[in-house]
Amino acid sequence: MRTQPDPVLHAPMPGAEGLAEPLRSRWSPSIFDARHRLTAHEIALLLHAAQWAPSSGNLQPWRFIVCERGDAGHQALVPHLSRGNSGWVPRASLVLLAVTQVADEPERLEDVRPTDADVNLYGLGLAAAQVVLQAQAMDLPAHQFGGFDKVAVAEVLGIPDWWRLVAGIAVGQRGEPGEVAERDQEREQRVRSRKPVTEIAFSGRWGVPWGPLTTQM
Ligand SMILES: Cc1cc2nc3c(=O)[nH]c(=O)nc-3n(C[C@H](O)[C@H](O)[C@H](O)COP(=O)(O)O)c2cc1C
Repeated sequence: MRTQPDPVLHAPMPGAEGLAEPLRSRWSPSIFDARHRLTAHEIALLLHAAQWAPSSGNLQPWRFIVCERGDAGHQALVPHLSRGNSGWVPRASLVLLAVTQVADEPERLEDVRPTDADVNLYGLGLAAAQVVLQAQAMDLPAHQFGGFDKVAVAEVLGIPDWWRLVAGIAVGQRGEPGEVAERDQEREQRVRSRKPVTEIAFSGRWGVPWGPLTTQM
């Protein structure tokens, strides 16, 4: 089912009205229902969304550690969340920890391509975007986060040195504002804003703003 932007809960996004769903209605809520659980089928669909992302040479340089609220992976993550994330992340039903390869495996075989960390980071980002959009299309909002001690969590979870834990993707169902701290309630009321297209897109040459329609963007 497609979700429609809620004029109260969904912060304004002028200029984005013409985007396709679920791009248009996606946003990052911070109030999750701490009782909700995803089914194994729903989790599998999110992982399929990552699985079918495009990647350079079809190398699929992403791995995800599935952490359901309360399980061993989740318990390993929670103590290492930043202060700002420690209130809302643990309430989400699911966290997918996103990992990519950034260096060659120590015993790399000769016919295996050398690792290109930049390309792999790009690929992981694409796969993560697909997860987030698939979740939104399933009426399950997602909120990505980088604020945690990734080195510590990677160590506890046994991630090899040549792979890097980059971010987490929290997924769940929206909860009741009254059940969370004021700080997390307030976070959702912030006005969402974006840099103008003239700042993020150049016309033919670096620094030359793109734009016949810039006044509308
Ligand atoms: C890689 C990455 C790291 C992020 N880290 C955090 C974080 O640690 N804590 C947080 O509350 N939000 C985090 N966010 C969410 C962004 O703040 C959010 O996407 C941005 O403000 C735009 O808002 P929107 O997603 O509602 O459009 C992160 C997003 C990404 C993609």
